[in-house]
Amino acid sequence: MAGPAQTRRRFLQTLTLSVAGLVGCWRYLTPTRATVPREVSLPATEVPQGGALVLPEHGLVVTRGRDGGLRALDLTCTHLGCRVTATENGFTCPCHGSRFAPDGAVLTGPATRALHELVCLEVGDRITVRLPEAT
Ligand code: FES
Repeated sequence: MAGPAQTRRRFLQTLTLSVAGLVGCWRYLTPTRATVPREVSLPATEVPQGGALVLPEHGLVVTRGRDGGLRALDLTCTHLGCRVTATENGFTCPCHGSRFAPDGAVLTGPATRALHELVCLEVGDRITVRLPEAT
């Protein structure tokens, strides 16, 4: 018959092995985070005066006004996060039909907030857009 010391020792061994097993499983079950670039850099000539360049692979659009002003918008719908698509008159969300003006302002809901503007800089012949934080 096992005494109290042996029972405690067996319990501690079982507990230690269980924790080690859980830690080992956790490492295999949780994805490792890939290093994702936090900026996009492109030649300034790719965004024409009074035009736009959609970068679907990065989920953003860079526009240049007729006055040369540069803007970058996140193409994530502010309603529930679907990807909006560019149209002749702005952006449309395929999920619930929100429409946004070319400057990202809400035209029709259900979205109530404008598309997020991203930090965008033009230095020399390059445009750099800072990507939104991954969620
Ligand atoms: S997610 Fe875009 S309108 Fe709902």
